[in-house]
Amino acid sequence: TLRNDEAIKVLSDKVKLNPNAKVIFMVGAGISTSCGIPDFRSPDTGLYSNLAKLNLPYAEAIFDIEFFEDNPLPFYTLATELYPGKFKPSKFHYLLKLFQEKKILKRVYTQNIDTLEQEAGIEKDIIIEAHGNFAKNHCIKCRKEFDMDVFKNKLDENERTGRCDFVKCDECDGLIKPNIVFFGENLPTRFFDTWDDDLSLLSNNSSESEYIIIVAGTSLAVYPFASLPEEVPTDIPRALINLETVGDFSLNPRKTDILFEGTTDDAAQLLAEELGWAEELNKLVRE
Ligand code: OAD
Ligand code: ZN
Repeated sequence: TLRNDEAIKVLSDKVKLNPNAKVIFMVGAGISTSCGIPDFRSPDTGLYSNLAKLNLPYAEAIFDIEFFEDNPLPFYTLATELYPGKFKPSKFHYLLKLFQEKKILKRVYTQNIDTLEQEAGIEKDIIIEAHGNFAKNHCIKCRKEFDMDVFKNKLDENERTGRCDFVKCDECDGLIKPNIVFFGENLPTRFFDTWDDDLSLLSNNSSESEYIIIVAGTSLAVYPFASLPEEVPTDIPRALINLETVGDFSLNPRKTDILFEGTTDDAAQLLAEELGWAEELNKLVRE
C-alpha cells in the first residue's frame, strides 16, 4: 500500500504516463466540508452529532421515510440549511472539472445532494447522483410527481414567515418530498444501470491500468454505495483520499491500493502540482 506523498506521485504518474487513462470517482460529504457543508459522521462537526436540537430519536431518522411521515420538520430544517445555491464548489470539485477538460473523467458517483458537481461544470451524463437530488419531488402517498418549485417555494415561504408549513399533494393530501433517497428507499435505476455498464468496462480492461478508481470524502458506511469499491476488479488500481482509512480499504486492503490520509482539497492541490495543472486549477477556483 502506498501512502500520502508517494500516493500522489503514483496516482499522477498513472494519469501522466497513460494516454488512455480514465478515472472513475466515488465521492461523499467529505469533498464538500470545505464549502461550509457539514458531513454526516465526523465526531464533532458532522450533522448527526449536531441534530440534538431537532429532537430526533436517532440521527438517521432525518432520512427515514416513516419518521418523515410523522414529523417532516427535521428534514425541512436540514433542507433549508443545505439547499443548493448557497454554496460554492471546493478545490476538489474543480479538480474533477479539470479531469473532464483533459478528457480523462469517465464518471463521478456521488452520494451528495448538494449538486456541487454540476455547479463546478461537470456534465450531467458523467454524474451519478446515487442519493438523488432536489430537482424533482413526489407525493409519498400516491407518488404523483411535482416540479422543484413546490418544495423550494415552501422553504422560502417558511423562511419569510418564520412558520413551518409542509407541502401537501393536491390529489391526496400526502406529504411532498424531494427525490432524495431516504433509508429504505431504492436508489435511482440509473445508478445500477450505469454501474453495470462501467463494471463491464472495468472487467474488460485490456491495456494495463487504463482505469483508475478514486474514492474520496466518504466513510463508506452506507450501502449499496459502499459496495462499489469492493466490486472493482482486483487488477484495477484503487485510491482513497480521506481523513481516515475506511470501508473496504481497511477491511480488505489490496497491495495495489493507494491511500492519501488528508483533506480532499490538499490532495487536489498536490495532484494538480504534480500534473502541472496547478495554475489552471487555481484559476477555476478563483473564477
Ligand atoms: P460521512 O459523514 O459518513 O463521511 C464523510 C467522510 O469524509 C468521513 O470519513 C470523514 O472523515 C471524511 N472527511 C470529512 N471532511 C473531509 C475532508 N475535508 N477531506 C477528506 N475527508 C474528509 O458522509 P458520506 O460517506 O457521504 O445520505 O455519507 C453517506 C450517506 O450517509 C450520505 O449520502 C447521507 C448519509 O445518510 C443521504 O443524504 C441520503
Ligand atoms: Zn398524492
